[in-house]
Amino acid sequence: MKKTIRFTLNGQAVAVKAESHQMLLEVLRDTLHLTGTKYGCGEGECGACTVLVDGASVDSCIYPVFEIEGRKVTTIEGLVGERNQLHPLQKSFVENGGIQCGFCTPGMIMSAKALLDQNPHPGPEEIRQGISGNLCRCTGYVQIVESIARVAEKESANE
Ligand code: FES
Ligand code: FES
Repeated sequence: MKKTIRFTLNGQAVAVKAESHQMLLEVLRDTLHLTGTKYGCGEGECGACTVLVDGASVDSCIYPVFEIEGRKVTTIEGLVGERNQLHPLQKSFVENGGIQCGFCTPGMIMSAKALLDQNPHPGPEEIRQGISGNLCRCTGYVQIVESIARVAEKESANE
């Protein structure tokens, strides 16, 4: 069955025709050409496809697109600010070595955003818990946790 799905994507209203068997990731990448969100395992195991739906992190590879009707979706592209300013999390990953090959990075950053939105001052264990659904083959996670912690510290300093 094919139907038109309407939702908000990175602050813009969108309408896409999709099939009932399609997952959100496929529609984001193949129909809407937002390829920042990665296809890793396709089975909800690696977190490379993480996006936010109504502020919560989800694995878009196993999220049926028909369920997205009327919801708010944020992808990694939606974090970039005016004049292509990187989001503080993106900057921190660059500055603190949280990126090596970069394949896990968009999903990792979206999970980190969901975490910091809920808990602006997480400790290292809470950060590890927050990104526990995201696998990284390169970094050993230390620099990733560091990258997220630096953003939390800066926000505390600005309060
Ligand atoms: S691609 Fe979705 S969890 Fe791996
Ligand atoms: S930086 Fe390569 S998988 Fe994480």
